[in-house]
Amino acid sequence: MKILVINGPNLNMLGVREPEIYGKETYETLCESIKDHANKKGIEVELFQSNHEGALVDEIQAAYKRFDGIVINPAAYTHTSVALLDAVKAVGIPTVEVHISAVDTREDFRQISYIRKACVKTISGKGLKGYLEAIDFLIGMLGEN
Ligand code: DQA
Repeated sequence: MKILVINGPNLNMLGVREPEIYGKETYETLCESIKDHANKKGIEVELFQSNHEGALVDEIQAAYKRFDGIVINPAAYTHTSVALLDAVKAVGIPTVEVHISAVDTREDFRQISYIRKACVKTISGKGLKGYLEAIDFLIGMLGEN
């Protein structure tokens, strides 16, 4: 089983950006904990981060027929991007939306998610552990198929 984990804009700044909201752990720490978790579960994982909407679309398209599942934190593009919604619909790969913070209890604009309609699950407000929970959800779901 191969899972692609995609992170959107400013998530490379984890540990520096608003630590009171996103915590003190860095993006590198997040990547290491995802790789460790995937190892323990016996699955393959690849990680991708970009600050550019088009690059995120390209990466989702390139996953077609290569990955069994996607975990994505589209960050600010969650609240604006029809292109990311369409890309996930286009490839038809089971995708879990993750947010570190509890977006549904923050500003009104953060309570809108375009990509959610194409996702099999949303996990928010669980910090970095949300990514690991998303991987476990996909393992459970894909294992049953
Ligand atoms: C975020 C929430 C978004 O509203 C924000 O723009 C982010 C991170 C989260 O993980 O909580 O960059 O997706």
